[in-house]
Formats: sequence, C-alpha cells, structure tokens
Amino acid sequence: MSKNIGILTSGGDTPGLNAAIRGIGKSAIRKYGMSVVGFRDGFKGLMQNRHVRLDSASLSGILTLGGTILGTAREKPHRMNVGGEKMDMRHVIKANIEEHHLDTLICLGGGGTQKNALALQEVGVPVLTLPKTIDRDVWGTEITFGFDTALNIATEAIDRLHSTAHSHHRIIVVEVMGHNAGWLALGSGLAGGADVILIPEIPYDAEAVAETIKARRSGGSTFSIVAVSEGAMSKQDAAELAEIEEQLETAEGDTRAELKAIRKDVEARQKDSTARVARRLEELTGLESRVTILGHVQRGGTPSPADRLLASRLGTATADLVAEGVTGVMMAIRGGEVVPVPLEEVAGRRSVVPLDHPWIEAARSLGVGLGLGPGQ
Ligand code: F6P
Repeated sequence: MSKNIGILTSGGDTPGLNAAIRGIGKSAIRKYGMSVVGFRDGFKGLMQNRHVRLDSASLSGILTLGGTILGTAREKPHRMNVGGEKMDMRHVIKANIEEHHLDTLICLGGGGTQKNALALQEVGVPVLTLPKTIDRDVWGTEITFGFDTALNIATEAIDRLHSTAHSHHRIIVVEVMGHNAGWLALGSGLAGGADVILIPEIPYDAEAVAETIKARRSGGSTFSIVAVSEGAMSKQDAAELAEIEEQLETAEGDTRAELKAIRKDVEARQKDSTARVARRLEELTGLESRVTILGHVQRGGTPSPADRLLASRLGTATADLVAEGVTGVMMAIRGGEVVPVPLEEVAGRRSVVPLDHPWIEAARSLGVGLGLGPGQ
C-alpha cells in the first residue's frame, strides 16, 4: 500500500525550503506514488490541523522561490502558546497525524526543530528531519541549506561597504546574523575582505580592535570594515556570563532567581552590542564610524544554486528513506554524502566554529583582526 507523508517548516524561514519541499514531494509522488500533505505555519498549524494537499501541480514552479510556501513559526509542540499559556499539545498533534494516516512527518528546520521533532518522536510520532538554517549551526551535518545564499548576500554587502568606507575614511561596523555561531560572519567577512571579524567563539577586546584599526591607519589605510556576528561578545561580558552559568549549576532559591535576573541583563545588553562596538571604536581611534545591520535581508529572496542543489538532494533522499520505513533521523551531509543521523544525537547540540578551523587559520594568515589585536 502506498504511504502518506506530512511536511512542515519550522523556525526562521530560509532560502531553499521550497526546493526541499519540492524535492521530497515530487520524488515521493513520482517514484513511490505516496500522498503528500503540507501543514501550515509549523507545529502550531499541525496542532490546529491546518493543512493543504501537495500534488504535482502545487509543487511545480517553487524551486526558485524564497521563504516557504507552507509558512513557518517558532512554536514548540511540548510548550505551545495556547491562550497565553504554555501547554504540551503533543497528544493533539499525534491525533492529527493519526487522522491523516501519516506514515511519516517530515520536519524542515534548524536546531530548535530537531529538538521539537525528538519531543514528538517520544510520544510515538514517526518523524524525519532536514537541517535548514542560514546560521549553519545544526549539529551533526557539515552544511545546512540557506547558509550559502546568506553567505552570498552578506558577502556582497561587505563588498559594497568598502567603497563608501574608503571614500569617507570611516570605520563601518557591519552586523551579520548567525545566532550564537560565527559561521556566517566569519565566512562573509573573509570572502568580503573585512579587516576585523568578531565572532561569538572568540570574545573580543575593543581596545585590541582599535589597535588593529590604528595599525591599518599607520600603514596608510584610512578606513576599516569590521564584521560583527550578532552573537559576538566582549571578553568582559563573556567572562561575566561564564561565571553566572557556573554559579547557576549549584545555586538554589533566591540566589538562583537573582543570578537569572543578572543573566537576563547581560543578554539584554547584547541587543545593541554592535552599536556599542562602533561608538567605542570611534572614541578609541578618532575615526568616524557607521553601523550597518544586514538583518533579515540575509534570509530573503531566491536560493543560490548551491542551496537549490543541496535542498533537492536532501529532499529526494528523504523520500527514499520514507519508502524504506526509516524514522527518527535527520538527513545530514557528512563527507559530501547524505547520511541519516539519529535525532537523539543531534537534538540539543549546536555546531560552532572550532578555533582551529581552516577559516580561522586563513584569517590569521591574512592579518585579519579577530578581536585580540593586530593580526590576532
Ligand atoms: O536562525 C536564523 C536567524 O535568522 C538567526 O540568524 C537570527 O538570530 C534569528 O533567526 C532571527 O530570528 P527572527 O526571524 O525571529 O527575528
């Protein structure tokens, strides 16, 4: 008997989601005669049973579209916002899956989605997942779709900032997305020729960044481009947070509540950290500075050819796995091959830039500042 599958997209939208939906759906229908249903707006839409039949006609013409035709949301099945309260809605979701006679629910998402899918698997929902995010921070896979497109957009922006920074002899501090991982800032900073790149994995020292900029000025370069990952932190803030986390491991009662409040303050400070970096650099160097926040433009528009290929490969391989009856895994890329990785291994972990990564080594060899002083 032919199988029934459901697809949803969850978390922040990412270029390549529609290519993946198309890859799964077309292959499931053409190769295996499966029926495909899509759920609107992530786990919330699944809980509300808002669905749409996906057939060859509706899967046509979406390869090049940005965003997701299904819509997305950041709701968790086990802590869903229902009437202002957080509730475990997994039993309702399970009932909807049964009503549709689904053999597999395929969840396309980032790190949070892997955890959410595992939470559904724990109550008996058969799940498979695909890794999507511009942040490239999903554990267990070498790459995620969306990253390449965002890398292209951020790199082009940094390219373009050069001529204006150069003309006005300014420092331009450009904020790049990436959540708590520096992949996108490091990749686009290197590819775009940024002079300083600040990433969460290497807490920075503003004085040392100023020294790098002054050294450039002494060498005749009167402008500098500083690429800052949105999660980058100063050494002081990183040390303060690390100390709080350490104390939280054993703290109880009022002390615990107090520590959590301090942690909230430090995290809130992070919200305008790029502007603070720019102001501090202006004070320390005497050079005028400007801030550019790339923001959601990095997630917008048509996916790059590399993301279309990756999403199509992962999508079609997913249909093959459904046909084999495999569930409980994320479709990862390892050694260039599509490899299923158990969700238990992936959920709750994050991939960050290792300090010995070739991109870090290349930055150091090129003399790009990493927030620790000239050439470091
Ligand atoms: O995870 C993708 C991402 O774009 C992160 O880089 C960023 O921190 C976050 O999503 C922004 O979230 P939202 O779209 O909810 O503003």
